[in-house]
Amino acid sequence: MKAMVYSKRNAPPAMRLTDIEKPVPTADQVLVKIHSVSLNAADYRSMQMGIGPKSGIFGADIAGLVEAVGPDAKKFRVGDAVFGDLSISNFGGLAEYVTASENILASKPDSVSFENAAAIPMASLTALQGLRDIGGIKPGHRVLLVGASGGVGLFALQLAKYFGAHVTAVCSPRNTETVTALGADDVIDYTRTKLRSLPEKFDIILAINGNYSLFTYRKLLVPDGIWVGIGGAISQFIRVLFLSPLLSIGKRKMRMLFTKQSTEDLAFVMKLVEEGRIRPVIDRRYSLPEAAEAFDYVKAGHAGGKVVVNVIP
Ligand SMILES: NC(=O)c1ccc[n+]([C@@H]2O[C@H](COP(=O)([O-])OP(=O)(O)OC[C@H]3O[C@@H](n4cnc5c(N)ncnc54)[C@H](OP(=O)(O)O)[C@@H]3O)[C@@H](O)[C@H]2O)c1
Repeated sequence: MKAMVYSKRNAPPAMRLTDIEKPVPTADQVLVKIHSVSLNAADYRSMQMGIGPKSGIFGADIAGLVEAVGPDAKKFRVGDAVFGDLSISNFGGLAEYVTASENILASKPDSVSFENAAAIPMASLTALQGLRDIGGIKPGHRVLLVGASGGVGLFALQLAKYFGAHVTAVCSPRNTETVTALGADDVIDYTRTKLRSLPEKFDIILAINGNYSLFTYRKLLVPDGIWVGIGGAISQFIRVLFLSPLLSIGKRKMRMLFTKQSTEDLAFVMKLVEEGRIRPVIDRRYSLPEAAEAFDYVKAGHAGGKVVVNVIP
């Protein structure tokens, strides 16, 4: 089978389209013929940190058809359409086939395309768990999304509207139209407005991208508000580790999110997509041989939604 394999031994280190052996499912695994895979910051961050997949094949969020099942696999049958996040299972999505435990995959309905299904897993679960599980979102809550226009942000915006919140989206001017079309109540252009000058207070702040002072964020919370750290600059992440316990003294809370795998959450988001209540936004599409270009685009940090590699055009 063909796969985009990254090797540090390439000069310069690079991904190359390579012929490798098709994997065989063992135990509770299934073999998935991949139709589409979407990229995430987790792909390039693990590559930068040197903790990428052993196989050298990146790409965690996949959608495809089950082509074979392992001896103990009970959940899916050959021909079933599935999708899921393989980041805890050694990635492997930038390839024609991948094996994964059936327990981390969910069913893809016929009405949702493979590329839309591949765009869902990591970004939407991050948004959902940030808003619902850590943020405790309720109708009428005022939610500030910093980094509203990327993969996680556009799901967070639509999910916050679904939960009945008032949403203020922070993005650059080129994304104003997109976030407005997806339901943002207020839009703040971060290139012109300083966050610290905002007069409003928020029940929930999702810090999805950017690099802002934690003291600024704390000031923007209502007295029992919660700040959820999701992503952005590494320096902000380090400050959070040291300062958030201190800044969480009192009723205002500051918490980091570490997205958990959950097939229940995948099914929850997929149902909303099926019902047309939310939709994956795909910024760019690439073919498998163009995956390195897709990787560079995501790494640049300005995607307006998800970036998908269609393994089957
Ligand atoms: N904690 C977890 O478990 C977890 C899970 C998943 C992802 N993450 C993290 O979440 C972050 C976002 O992921 P993603 O997939 O949404 O990334 P992404 O799609 O690459 O985000 C790109 C978007 O961020 C916007 N942006 C860039 N700088 C900004 C700034 N200073 N202020 C506001 N918006 C800004 C860009 O808009 P412009 O180009 O217009 O600026 C672009 O639309 C990443 O850091 C990722 O590592 C964490």
